[in-house]
Amino acid sequence: CRVRNYKFNVVFKNSTKLCSTKPIVTVNGKFPGPTLYAREDDTVLVKVVNHVKYNVSVHWHGVRQLRTGWADGPAYITQCPIQPGQNYIYNFTLTGQRGTLLWHAHILWLRSTVHGALVILPKRGVPYPFPAPQKEVVVVLAEWWKSDTEAVINQALQSGIAPNVSDAHTINGHPGPVPACPSQKGYTLPVESGKTYLLRIVNAALNEELFFKIAGHKLTVVEVDATYVKPFKTETILVAPGQTTNVLLTTDQNSGKYLVAASTFMDSPIAVDNLTATATLHYSGTLSSTPTNVTKMPLINATQVANGFINSLKSLNSKKFPATVPLKIDHHLLFTVGLGVNPCPTCKAGNGSRVVASINNVTFVMPTTALLQAHFFNISGVYTTDFPANPPITFNFSGAGPTNMQTTNGTKVYRLAYNSTVQLVMQDTGMIAPENHPVHLHGFNFFQVGRGLGNYNATTDPKNFNLVDPVERNTIGVPTGGWVAIRFRADNPGVWFLHCHLEVHTTWGLKMAFLVDNGKGPNQSLLPPPKDLPKC
Ligand code: C2O
Repeated sequence: CRVRNYKFNVVFKNSTKLCSTKPIVTVNGKFPGPTLYAREDDTVLVKVVNHVKYNVSVHWHGVRQLRTGWADGPAYITQCPIQPGQNYIYNFTLTGQRGTLLWHAHILWLRSTVHGALVILPKRGVPYPFPAPQKEVVVVLAEWWKSDTEAVINQALQSGIAPNVSDAHTINGHPGPVPACPSQKGYTLPVESGKTYLLRIVNAALNEELFFKIAGHKLTVVEVDATYVKPFKTETILVAPGQTTNVLLTTDQNSGKYLVAASTFMDSPIAVDNLTATATLHYSGTLSSTPTNVTKMPLINATQVANGFINSLKSLNSKKFPATVPLKIDHHLLFTVGLGVNPCPTCKAGNGSRVVASINNVTFVMPTTALLQAHFFNISGVYTTDFPANPPITFNFSGAGPTNMQTTNGTKVYRLAYNSTVQLVMQDTGMIAPENHPVHLHGFNFFQVGRGLGNYNATTDPKNFNLVDPVERNTIGVPTGGWVAIRFRADNPGVWFLHCHLEVHTTWGLKMAFLVDNGKGPNQSLLPPPKDLPKC
């Protein structure tokens, strides 16, 4: 195993899109940021130097961070942010992980432009469990706002209403020609006929789940969230923010230009962001200037297309890569996720109320000391351990909601013994309106054992759980007006964030944390913090 050294200079850079220019926060002046390459079991050292006016922190989304929570990155959860002019070395090992993940800023809305791919190759000499591709390509999907994204969210928080939706989606940094700027060129992927390409597709968008499609070509899905799946062919893939999907693309045409597109999936849109980013798959030797082969994207509310894709995902579950689904469960948890409203006398646009979000009616309040520090150094008064295991009030997925949509504020964590097993059912409540929530758990992979519409039934639904080859991932969509059941083993001591990866919902409070105690054996404790851990 090797040590890989990277340096991330966080700097402002002017960027022109949609025919207008604005300064954005970047890593090393790039949008998307640099791809980080490593192999399974390598150690990665990333020195992040903050040259901007904002506090910064970086998260390695999906990296397990076994016993190294100090390198996880969410501001005020595992570390205090890196202040302007300061730096911090993220030091972690990619134990037993290979595939595509992403890294992104984990503070404010800086993730909108501070993000990139993390490619973990198998150990040297170890083949993929699928036909070897001739070439690999990283495809980062994201969003673009004409205004400054910090201004967008600040204005929303002051008014109490939803922030503006983005002005474009991007594929490797480019929206492609759009009505607002028809002359703008899109990303081009040059290919040769008769080859196999591995596309490592990352959704780094703040608030949009995306459909992705290439005209005239089928895609073979081989991996999601850095875990191998049973390969299957599809025309359309669905990637939620924080998720990654690896597909094999066989260039089985002779020539031509084919449209590549990414468009929104949102089956109960409150604020509609019905945009499509386009790029071009360009067979070598083709002269025509625009793609002649276009594709029809699914509608924004194409729930069936989304469900069809999600239901096709199964763990590879081979001898080498078994699905280790916990069968005996210590903690049965039921969390409602959804939006609500709280009083806000100063919120004029919201008529005296503001939109909030919650889990089990708790709107999470960010502490000013990092939870992991408070835990490690026994600092009291930072959090409480009374996060409810079950919903405190009755709910209904149908959208009617309880009459009382108010939530309570708190910095509450749920405590787990080392190596205990958890079944967590997450239920969309539709307190304001039902909505799909891509929920991410830090520090673990989990298995999606069940998923359904309507209210979860604790007696009948578990009978249909897949405990054999459920897909394993780190970010999962709670379906609109439905539920999803996941299982994981709490084998990673530390404090681990769980939150909706739609950034607007995280901002509104759809987040909580698990506190996993140390075990008693060797190598079962959280390591001490590094010396350069930022101070608050
Ligand atoms: Cu990718 Cu806590 O986030």
